[in-house]
Amino acid sequence: MKIESLSYVSIETTDLQEWDDYAKNVVGLMKNESLSDDHNLYLRMDEKAFRFHIQTGGSKKFIAAGLNIRGKEEFEVAKNELTSANIEFADFSDELIAARCVENGITLKDPAGNALEISYGGADADEPFLSPQDIKGFITKGLGFGHVVFAAPDLEVAHSFYIDTLGFGDSDYMNFPMGPAPDAPEVKLHFMHCDNPRHHTVALYESPIPPSGLIHTMVEVNNVDEVGHGLDRAMQNNVHISSSLGRHSNDMMVSFYMQTPSGFDLEFGYDGWQVDWETFTKQESKIPSFWGHAFSPPES
Ligand SMILES: [Fe+2]
Repeated sequence: MKIESLSYVSIETTDLQEWDDYAKNVVGLMKNESLSDDHNLYLRMDEKAFRFHIQTGGSKKFIAAGLNIRGKEEFEVAKNELTSANIEFADFSDELIAARCVENGITLKDPAGNALEISYGGADADEPFLSPQDIKGFITKGLGFGHVVFAAPDLEVAHSFYIDTLGFGDSDYMNFPMGPAPDAPEVKLHFMHCDNPRHHTVALYESPIPPSGLIHTMVEVNNVDEVGHGLDRAMQNNVHISSSLGRHSNDMMVSFYMQTPSGFDLEFGYDGWQVDWETFTKQESKIPSFWGHAFSPPES
């Protein structure tokens, strides 16, 4: 099957207003007023009806990543391939079709238990995109939302699922010590792309699934000043900065990381590599970043 892009993320929170404020004052996302209500917050990054769907519930956590497929025919091919591979999936209910603003979709889980939704026909919004902050917008055209990094306790099993079943391609494999100590534990990551030029759309990090359900997700803005202004807004709003500014060695992204109201991180970056897959050879990076990206987990 050919997954085109990451189309949206679905998140649960106990406090919708907290996400509303964070999206507006820090990230610069536009609220879709006509879709949102007391229990649902729909946030826009571009022409699509939404890219973040936040629902009220009993916890603060990531729920699912939406993967877009190009049309009904490709969707049927995907379902047949999942059936042949003995992968369990469930058709979207009418309620979920309406909630995700798509023509149709299925839900499934990767071997680590991360929830995925494969759908097609995602609706556009009626109004043009206008950020509540002074930013031009987010880089999504032909590339999708951005990327997600999932935890996977059994890295290789989860990796083969994305490559062999969902049809992703390898972009990079990273294995480096966590910190300077000689006996520091190894960090292992697989980075994978789907059918668009973004260097990676899904990455897998060898670790137990965190309580927030996700390691991080990434959005990309149009220039480095917009990254800097984003960092200023995060600090002005007392958002925890999980990583300092830095440039990644694999997708070249200049970014910082901040904690979202649902506990996982949001990478806010610019200058991600758009790859020509015809001439690309898989990378094996020895370091995560050329400079910066000093991580500091929140104090618990
Ligand atoms: Fe990232």
